[in-house]
Amino acid sequence: DDDPRLNAISDSIRVIPDFPKPGIMFQDITTLVANHLVYKHTIDIFADRYREMGISVVAGVEARGFIFAAPIALAIGAKFIPLRKPGKLPGKVISEAYELEYGEDCLEMHVGSVGQGESVVIVDDLVATGGTLSAAIKLFERVGAEVIECACVIGLPEIKERRMLNGTPLYVLVEPR
Ligand code: PRP
Repeated sequence: DDDPRLNAISDSIRVIPDFPKPGIMFQDITTLVANHLVYKHTIDIFADRYREMGISVVAGVEARGFIFAAPIALAIGAKFIPLRKPGKLPGKVISEAYELEYGEDCLEMHVGSVGQGESVVIVDDLVATGGTLSAAIKLFERVGAEVIECACVIGLPEIKERRMLNGTPLYVLVEPR
């Protein structure tokens, strides 16, 4: 963790208090991706980690996960798969519901987008409870693909130190400030 790029990444994330609700410190990555060098550092760190791991799929979680997953997929020569909120994908899908603080949400994936035995990295901007990523992992497990790791730019200290999500490794770059 003495990589100076991590400090630049952390410094580039804007924290907006009380958004979208009182008490939430929103971690705004629009300021990270508006800084070309820091955005490139972020993608480089992930791509260097996954390039030699035999990854065939990089999946992104709607919406902010797409911003990081797609360039990582291009950099390592893997296919990009979008995991979307309900009703957005036009083809046949499989769905996995997950709990929110109030109510539930759902992620969907196109059937046939990933084959049995493929090696997957799932990417998102931020992990808080891990509910979203756990649902994403289940989608790939259901079709017989192997999730090698989940990768996030930002993770709360509790989950960052735990380094696992239901048996799947979790890799996080920085903690919220
Ligand atoms: C945020 C974030 C993660 C998820 C993390 O997405 O981008 O996907 O919440 O929370 P969890 O670990 O507690 O599940 P959000 O639902 O706000 O969607 P968005 O990216 O489309 O704004």
